[in-house]
Amino acid sequence: MREVIDPRKCYRGIMPIPLLVTLVSYNDSKRDNLTTVSFAGQVSEKKVYVALRPTRHVCRVFSESLTRSPAVFGINYLYADQVEIADYCGVASGRDTDKFKETGLNVGRVNTNTHFNVPLVKESPLSLACRLEDMHVSGTHAVFFAEVQAIVKRQGAIPKFLMHETTSYFSTDNLPLGPVFEIGKKMVRRGRK
Ligand SMILES: Cc1cc2nc3c(=O)[nH]c(=O)nc-3n(C[C@H](O)[C@H](O)[C@H](O)COP(=O)(O)O)c2cc1C
Repeated sequence: MREVIDPRKCYRGIMPIPLLVTLVSYNDSKRDNLTTVSFAGQVSEKKVYVALRPTRHVCRVFSESLTRSPAVFGINYLYADQVEIADYCGVASGRDTDKFKETGLNVGRVNTNTHFNVPLVKESPLSLACRLEDMHVSGTHAVFFAEVQAIVKRQGAIPKFLMHETTSYFSTDNLPLGPVFEIGKKMVRRGRK
């Protein structure tokens, strides 16, 4: 059985496409910080994109970064059991929160051929150190394009990554992990912020 879906009728306009969840890591010149982003991916052999709503703190930081050099950031994929952290970083804002501190994640800095001290997430199974290149506004989102300068990968078998489809988190081996924009609130309630 196949179903034809009108994307305008999807819940909150989100299409039911499985997306890998990432933490974007960056420095806003005050501190290192994180934002959860699932509209992120590869556009060619060495180029990637992240799509951000203009209301995000990270979007303002990236827009400003484009006007000066160096403009670097990280895309960090996650293990499925980091779901609570991912959701928390998708409900709290870096405007008033140090999300590295609140989640207990650590900054793992890398030097690339072109840049020093790119902030990545030490606990990530796979991180990309990226240099911002360009931005295009597309509808509701600003799409930032970047070149990957270094790949930091944990050795071993391919891990179970965290992904989501519309409003539910899953692991890449299909284990249900809870609702999006909900389970991170537990962390908030525990008094972390
Ligand atoms: C699973 C998940 C995926 C998300 N993906 C995106 C995204 O692709 N683009 C975006 O602008 N916001 C996305 N968000 C929302 C931001 O992470 C959220 O608004 C965050 O609080 C913004 O933080 P900031 O103000 O520190 O940048 C996502 C949130 C979650 C929970």
